[in-house]
Amino acid sequence: MTIERVGVAFEPDILKKFDRLLKGSGYMSRSEALRDLARKAILDSEVKEGKGIVIGTITIIYDHHASNVTERLLDLQHHHHADVISTMHVHASEKMCLEVIVVRGESAEVRRLSDSIRAVKGVKHGELVITKTGL
Ligand code: NI
Repeated sequence: MTIERVGVAFEPDILKKFDRLLKGSGYMSRSEALRDLARKAILDSEVKEGKGIVIGTITIIYDHHASNVTERLLDLQHHHHADVISTMHVHASEKMCLEVIVVRGESAEVRRLSDSIRAVKGVKHGELVITKTGL
């Protein structure tokens, strides 16, 4: 991969705080940290515009005693425009289930599926994490 070098000017106090942050988070160089920040900004902007195919996870925790929750969740995963690639189910406690759903599709569709899943009665908490290959 070709790399282009650019010079970046910082105010000293920002640079000091940034370096402190990097030290704590395990980055070996400022360049690597800045590249990751740039990738994140590009990804966020593309996802916000609903552009392109993304891959991600929807992690939910739900009460499996809630009425029809399992059927509702299965139904949503089977009949949606985003593809569910894989799911992992963990019986987290006697009452609660943790599920990680891996999805791929147009970012707007993935978001819609995640919203529908989180809105199911019995789902207590859910988070969508989206990323892209080729970043
Ligand atoms: Ni379970």
